[in-house]
Amino acid sequence: MIESRFELVIAGATFTLRTGDITKVPADAIGNAANAKLVGGGGVDGAIHRAGGPSIMRELNAIRARIGRCPPGEAVATTAGDLPADWVFHAVGPQYRGGNSGEAVALASCYQRCLALADEHRARSLTLPAISTGVYRYPLEEAAAVAVRTTTAALAAGRSQVGSVTFVLFGDRVFRAFAQATLAVMAKLG
Ligand code: AR6
Repeated sequence: MIESRFELVIAGATFTLRTGDITKVPADAIGNAANAKLVGGGGVDGAIHRAGGPSIMRELNAIRARIGRCPPGEAVATTAGDLPADWVFHAVGPQYRGGNSGEAVALASCYQRCLALADEHRARSLTLPAISTGVYRYPLEEAAAVAVRTTTAALAAGRSQVGSVTFVLFGDRVFRAFAQATLAVMAKLG
């Protein structure tokens, strides 16, 4: 199998796009595309719970008992069970409803919250999926633009201590959309 990869250095931090299964890529922290009830589901959420084991859901149960729902744009942290990571940041992406319901703000917030949680937990490497681009039906090109703009801007501004951010993208179509979005950001930076 061919793995696609694209890497930039932004203000001393590595920004990487690659194809693959996020549950197989070692990192200090892994971002998840969760739902507001924090009850697990399909897609990348299902894969993370399957690979990580039941301790992740036990921790989410405790968080749910404390805070109830986790609204779109927010994220909560658990440890990572059997995953090759210390932490999982469960970010709740927006369900796409046409684009005028605050989706872009909520999606950007997911990535900002993941970076903030990484700093809080002293995670230096962070892997992220393409939040909201599956079951939540966010158009891929738009979601990729938000994801890339938000994370590259945070790294460029030195707003995070994270030294390595890697988008682990499921398939070539997703990878290409993120690569296009990254080239667009680079073109703007000149
Ligand atoms: N590694 C990396 N990316 C993956 C993997 C994987 N193992 N599996 C899927 N993807 P989705 P959403 C990609 O649907 O749209 C769940 O049921 C997938 O190709 O996982 O935010 C939750 O519980 C797509 O590009 O998340 C919520 O109810 C991306 O991950 C709901 O789905 C996101 O697709 C959240 O929907």
